[in-house]
Amino acid sequence: MPELITTEDGSHSLYVKELDEHYHSVHGAVTESAHVFIDAGLKAVPGNHINIFEMGFGTGLNAFLTLVEILGSEKTVHYTGLEKFPLEAGILASLNYASLFHENKGEFFHLLHKAPWNENTEINDEFMLEKKEGDIRSLDIRDQFDLVYFDAFAPDKQPELWTTDIFSRIFRSMKHGSILTTYCSKSQVRQNLAKAGFRVEKLPGPPGKRDMTRAWKD
Ligand SMILES: C[S@@+](CC[C@H](N)C(=O)[O-])C[C@H]1O[C@@H](n2cnc3c(N)ncnc32)[C@H](O)[C@@H]1O
Repeated sequence: MPELITTEDGSHSLYVKELDEHYHSVHGAVTESAHVFIDAGLKAVPGNHINIFEMGFGTGLNAFLTLVEILGSEKTVHYTGLEKFPLEAGILASLNYASLFHENKGEFFHLLHKAPWNENTEINDEFMLEKKEGDIRSLDIRDQFDLVYFDAFAPDKQPELWTTDIFSRIFRSMKHGSILTTYCSKSQVRQNLAKAGFRVEKLPGPPGKRDMTRAWKD
């Protein structure tokens, strides 16, 4: 079972001993997610009705920050979070993400986790969630997503998830004019994204990382 840790901005993350890997940056889990997925992804994608796909739903932090970001705005989100190894309720309940926000917002973190798997759940008027149990290697969807949060474990831990084949599957699942963001900026990863058809941009990374990657399906 993953071990709970506190990162430098005070938000929790999980450590997986078998992989010697964390779910988020030890320099700040919330800081990293907000920088990579909300600021470089959600805020950059055009349109008010946004169809989001997340590779690796994990703790639900990215879904939670997305929901908090659009609350009271004109935006609506349909969020598909794919996860091969759903976390147990006990470990999810110990995460401190909800407590970092006013309770009116924090309660949504618990609602995301109460939602059943493999069906659409309306979390509120603005946010529809589908947590999907499955493997990214079997993704077979066409022209659906406006925004992809690619949040796999690092390429040196799970190289099989950062390949041209996986990125081609994701490319096919996206609409024209859509965006993929990821915290990783390794040159091999950027090359694989480009081979899959993406236009690849390097952006400044969150604390502790010089760069991150944003890729466009033009
Ligand atoms: C770096 S963690 C990030 C999780 C999540 N985005 C978060 O903020 O907590 C990577 C996630 O990918 C999941 N994962 C690993 N292999 C997978 C696969 N083949 N298909 C789908 N998800 C996978 C892991 O179980 C883990 O939850």
